[in-house]
Amino acid sequence: MKDLMKRLEKTAEYVKDIIKATPDVAIILGSGLGNLADSIENKKEIPYKDIPHFPQTTVPGHDGKLIFGELNGKKVLAMKGRFHYYEGNDMDAVVYPIRVFKALGIDKLIVTNAAGGVNTGFTPGELMIITDHISLFCENPLRGENYDELGPRFPDMSCAYDKELINIAMDSAKALGIDIKSGIYSYCKGPSFETPAEIRALRTLGADAVGMSTVPEVITARHMKMKVLGISCITNMAAGILDQPLNHEEVLETGKQVEKKFVSLVSHIVSKL
Ligand code: HPA
Repeated sequence: MKDLMKRLEKTAEYVKDIIKATPDVAIILGSGLGNLADSIENKKEIPYKDIPHFPQTTVPGHDGKLIFGELNGKKVLAMKGRFHYYEGNDMDAVVYPIRVFKALGIDKLIVTNAAGGVNTGFTPGELMIITDHISLFCENPLRGENYDELGPRFPDMSCAYDKELINIAMDSAKALGIDIKSGIYSYCKGPSFETPAEIRALRTLGADAVGMSTVPEVITARHMKMKVLGISCITNMAAGILDQPLNHEEVLETGKQVEKKFVSLVSHIVSKL
C-alpha cells in the first residue's frame, strides 16, 4: 500500500494522456460480456502491461486491457480481464483498477460477473440485477491503513448498489423485453466451487447468487462514493441444486449463449446514464 496515492497519480496520468477525456462510466466486463468491447466505437486499447503500476494478469495468453471509446453516445472505459483474489492477487491489486477509475474522474461503475444461482427459482442463462451483497467471506479490501483522500475509515454500505441505476437497468430490461431477476450476490473466495452445504447455508443467509468476484471492487468503489450497478449472469445452478457436478466449461458455455442479451442490456443502460 506504500505510496498508493503516488502510484495512482502516475497510472492515471498515463491513461489520461491516451484517452484525453473523462469517461462517463467504467465497466468491468465479466464472463459473458467480453463482446461488449466489439460495440465500442473509436476505440483506444491500452494493454495492462503498458500501464505503470497496473497489476498484471496471471493467466498466460489472457492479456488484459482497458478499452476506451464510445458506446451508444457515452464515453466508456471498459476493463477486459479482471483481477481475482483466487488467482493469488493481493486485495490491493484486485481493487487497484477501481481506484484508477476514480483518479480519472469517473464516478459511475458497472460491474458484471458470472454467478451460480442459489435461488431455486432462477434458471441458467438469466440475468440478475444485484440489489445488495454478502461480503462475510471476503477479506475486506480496505483492511490496513486508510487513505483519507480516498474515503472514510468506516464507509457506509447501506446503499452499495445505486437505486437510481437499478431503476435504469430494470427499465432497460423492460424496454428490450428481457426477463430480468434481481437479488443478493454472495461472495465466496474460490477457486473451488462451493459445497451443497455451503449453498444451503448461503440461501439461509438470504443469498440469491454466488460468485468469486465483484464484492471487493464494489466495497472499494463505495469507499470513494462511486455509484455502482452490478449485474450477474446466472451461468449455472449452484452446487447441490441439480443432481450434477459443476464445471467451468458450463459457466463459459452459458456465458457465451447469453452474451448477445447481456451486451444489448448493458449498451441500453449506458445510453440512459
Ligand atoms: N459458484 C461460484 N462462482 C461461480 C459459480 C458458482 O456456482 N458460477 C459462476 N461463478
